Amino acid sequence: MPSSGPIGVFDSGYGGLTVLRSLTAAFPEYDFVYYGDNARAPYGGRSFEVVYRYTLEAVKHLFELGAPLVILACNTASAKALRTIQQRDLPGLNPVNRVLGVIRPSVEYLGQVSRGGHIGVVGTVGTVLSESYPLEIAKLYPSFKVVQEACPMWVPLIENQELASEGAEFFVQQNLTALFGRAPETDTLILGCTHYPLLLPLIERFVPAGVEIIDQGPVVADRLRDYLLRHPEMDERLTRGGQLAFYSSEDPLRFNASASFFLGREVLARHLPLRG
Ligand code: DGL
Repeated sequence: MPSSGPIGVFDSGYGGLTVLRSLTAAFPEYDFVYYGDNARAPYGGRSFEVVYRYTLEAVKHLFELGAPLVILACNTASAKALRTIQQRDLPGLNPVNRVLGVIRPSVEYLGQVSRGGHIGVVGTVGTVLSESYPLEIAKLYPSFKVVQEACPMWVPLIENQELASEGAEFFVQQNLTALFGRAPETDTLILGCTHYPLLLPLIERFVPAGVEIIDQGPVVADRLRDYLLRHPEMDERLTRGGQLAFYSSEDPLRFNASASFFLGREVLARHLPLRG
């Protein structure tokens, strides 16, 4: 019989906590296990091969921790590793478990919110260079126009809790001014990195009025509800108890301090040593 367990949530670092927050609000009765690969974050500037290897390792960790379903709450990992893991690794690893990402749900949601089909995407260098957003958007909405802007400094600022510093303001303004300068007609901005909602107060200051900003957390939670309705065999395998467990590849004490700050609740993580 297929095993039961919590929903696994993975990110390179703290960004996935923005998704976890939405997931626990939408599914308070479900159990969750979060793994942040903080020792190796950020992933944004890393090669395809490296992001794939680290992400596969994280999926194996979460499967071993009992999660039948893993959400890659990381755009960089979703862009660079999800397809390969789903198609090449999952059948050998555990054919009844599932791994989902955050890009497809965000793109699906665009149809409901974009007024004119002019989409801006901010993300890591890895996500932007992968062209995952333009490719997915072209499949679902061929008439939409997409402009991307890589923001390589945002994740390091967030990982270091520099949410309202002068440095954060400088880089957020620089990248958003560049994007809206190139595409002033943009009507919808995807925060294509799960870290970015932590900079939302700053981002809102530099996004022109009337532009819809997509924070992926609520979107992913909404799509997960739909997924579980369509896949009752998976829903039945997800344990309910409202338990939250945290793991980090970094020193848990460092993780606890930042994660508690970002999540607004006490976090007590355990250490998962790196393998590869
Ligand atoms: N939060 C991640 C994302 O959504 C990863 C950022 C990084 O590690 O560079 O892309």
